[in-house]
Amino acid sequence: SVSSAFDFTPALFPLQSTSGGYTALGAPSQVSLSLERGGAHDNLEKQKTLTFLNGLSLVVGLVIGSGIFSSPAQVNSHTGSPGAALIVWAISGLLTWTGAALSSQDLRRTRRLPLTWTAILVLKPGSAAIIAIIFGEYVIRAAIGADVEEINPWINKAPAFLALAVVTFLNCISTRFAARIGDLFMFFKFIALIAITVIGIIVAATGLSFNGPANTDWKSRNWFDGTTTDISSWAVAIYAGLWAFDGWDNTNYVTGEFKNPSKDLPRVIHTGMPTVIICYILANIAYIFVLPLATINKSNTVAVQFGNKVFGATGSLILALIVSGSCFGALNATTFTSGRLVYAAGREGYIPAVFGTVGFGHRNSQLPAPAKFRKRSWLTKKLRSIFGDDAGFGATPINGMLLNACLTAAYVAVGEFKSLITFYGVAGYTFYFLTVLGLIVLRIREPHLERPYRTWITTPIIFCCVSLFLVVRAVVNEPVQTLVVVGFVVAGVPAYYWRIRGRDSGGQREGEGRFWRRWGRGLRGR
Ligand code: ARG
Repeated sequence: SVSSAFDFTPALFPLQSTSGGYTALGAPSQVSLSLERGGAHDNLEKQKTLTFLNGLSLVVGLVIGSGIFSSPAQVNSHTGSPGAALIVWAISGLLTWTGAALSSQDLRRTRRLPLTWTAILVLKPGSAAIIAIIFGEYVIRAAIGADVEEINPWINKAPAFLALAVVTFLNCISTRFAARIGDLFMFFKFIALIAITVIGIIVAATGLSFNGPANTDWKSRNWFDGTTTDISSWAVAIYAGLWAFDGWDNTNYVTGEFKNPSKDLPRVIHTGMPTVIICYILANIAYIFVLPLATINKSNTVAVQFGNKVFGATGSLILALIVSGSCFGALNATTFTSGRLVYAAGREGYIPAVFGTVGFGHRNSQLPAPAKFRKRSWLTKKLRSIFGDDAGFGATPINGMLLNACLTAAYVAVGEFKSLITFYGVAGYTFYFLTVLGLIVLRIREPHLERPYRTWITTPIIFCCVSLFLVVRAVVNEPVQTLVVVGFVVAGVPAYYWRIRGRDSGGQREGEGRFWRRWGRGLRGR
């Protein structure tokens, strides 16, 4: 079977739902909510439907999100020059590509409680918070335009909280309705990205500008002038780039669904990732052509500035709406998967069992909810008339999604874009580093293990070096943030021994897990 280096999910979360039913090309796919192990594997055999193109659009669609419209300020200001910024985009793209290639190596499933734990506490809500914050900034820009300089952060955060609430609510009542929203916006962000690139090149070639004199920054300066030599600054810039490329791990959700995983998966990765890298570099060149560096450096909403410079207020409004729509779709998708991840972890006993329930907590229910829990109350009927047949509060992991929403809201409240991308990157790349290190060790210890395909051993080694550099730099630069991440991870370790080791080593020792039992009966013998 194809497992992967970075999956915290397949072990817990079957490969059934294509990232929450989002196929970029088509209708909301066969969303299957069966999260039970046995069931998932049975159905898996029947559902090998994804073709190469489905996979490609899925991966590209899930990677391209808020980042290319928000990270450039961080990348540019931390590298000091446009040339160096482009290099950072290339480095982070290549690192991501390498990681994605490695992720399709066959690794043994190990108990990954610490990773699941970190995913639930940091990675999932952290990425949702970043997306929500960018959503907020773009919505506010849509309302007030590109020119206002200083905006109170809480004004930006208000729509972020609101969107989080709406998305959580929608995901609690209906899976399919939520999936439809995602598909809609998937389309627009491609258009926006392509439009930005084409317009940028036209503007550079013709010198056209409808709003003020054309930008000549890029003509008059050396593109590497001002490049910083501070290595820490580069690390921060790379984290910003990595955010935009993040999401490649989503290939893990679909590996099992390919008709021919060992052939299609590498093809998807080796076409998808370079496509994204090229798109991002071109978009950045377009930004540099159109906008003065000072503007790029200080705006999290670079697409609004771009639209404003080229087409004035209408341009900035259109781009603000498209990007906020894209973020909304991404927030929606991540809420879906997070809810299921928390649910699965609750059922495994990794976290208190109240989170592993369906609806408002029918303790032993599972997804899909048994018919007796799908109550047809007046409310349910009403909801179904609005949202379609599957609506109702009885069939989704509500507690799991609420936990995720609360954590996300906390990150939105205390964080800002700049700090959260580093925070997220440190947590993510600590694990990527450890996992790939594990892969190298496995290669050496069990060289003959069957793998769908293998990369050169140099690839994981380079990956390890770069991610180690990033993590170490973060420790030096942002000790507090790193400490918080480490705290979260370490908190998972005692829980691991307490809960999982006891169970797997043949049973329930006296007193084990007493604390968590109070939260519900989570421990199920297997
Ligand atoms: N690359 C995406 C963006 O630029 C972020 C993806 C979020 N990560 C994830 N695993 N869902 O917005």
